[in-house]
Amino acid sequence: MCWIFGALWAAALVGIASGDAVAGASVYHDAETGFTFSQYNVLYNLQEAVTFRIAVPSPVTANQPYDTVLQVVAPIDVGWTGLSWAGQMTYSPLSVSWSNSNNVVVSSRYTTEHAAPPTYSGATYSVFKTGTHVNRTHFQYTAKCSGCTSFTSSGGTPTVLNPTGVNRLAFAYASSKPSNPSSNLSSFPVHDVYTYWSHDFSAGANAAFASLAAKNLGHS
Ligand code: HEM
Ligand SMILES: *[C@@H]1O[C@H](CO)[C@@H](O)[C@H](O)[C@H]1NC(C)=O
Ligand SMILES: *[C@@H]1O[C@H](CO)[C@@H](O)[C@H](O)[C@H]1NC(C)=O
Repeated sequence: MCWIFGALWAAALVGIASGDAVAGASVYHDAETGFTFSQYNVLYNLQEAVTFRIAVPSPVTANQPYDTVLQVVAPIDVGWTGLSWAGQMTYSPLSVSWSNSNNVVVSSRYTTEHAAPPTYSGATYSVFKTGTHVNRTHFQYTAKCSGCTSFTSSGGTPTVLNPTGVNRLAFAYASSKPSNPSSNLSSFPVHDVYTYWSHDFSAGANAAFASLAAKNLGHS
């Protein structure tokens, strides 16, 4: 598997991102939701990538947990994909998603071992109607996450991700679907691929974060 990984990683570094390139992420302005995202494309085979876009409020009080908006775009052949905010499988909020006919299912998970991750109430998601859809080629969701940017390390240290700098993230992908895809409590098969990257959150700073979130949630 290692040589494949080398090849994937090299291809990922060449980059298929659009937008203004910055270290570890490009800037993506989403007309549909109004958010500015830091964007990274993660290849899961030699041609196809899952796109992870992260929007953060600006300014953010140092060392305080903050909400994010996560937008994920995945080719329709993805069985499930997940983002690890701590950049590893364990001791990390895991944002797992898959498509179910015309819906996107988002599932909050967390685990302390390399085994199927149980559900997690420490991170909660409000999925926007805007920026969420399934079409012939892709599924996409946009959600506000509360609890994704803070967690406790395996050593017991409280950790808050840097809202204005680079954070090490990880993702996982499986070609097979969850067993009960209509439910976000479903179990799902182990990944076929995982990888890591450094993601510059500063590229997705939003001064209007709160008002944009309220607007997309239909609260204004
Ligand atoms: C049924 C679900 C899952 C099972 C059974 C599972 C199992 C495992 C196992 C056994 C390893 C160690 C592999 C090795 O040492 O080569 C591993 C590694 C890993 N898994 Fe999972 N996994 C699952 C779901 C997830 C999810 C949902 C994510 C992220 C969203 C994830 C991310 C990773 C990452 C990044 C690694 C690399 C090692 C690390 O960073 O801890 N896994 N997984
Ligand atoms: C599943 O969805 C429900 C309703 O949106 C939500 O309240 C719950 O937190 C979600 N559970 C997980 C594990 O994501
Ligand atoms: C399908 O969704 C993807 C991801 O959001 C988008 O890039 C693409 O333009 C959409 N295709 C059509 C035909 O609308």
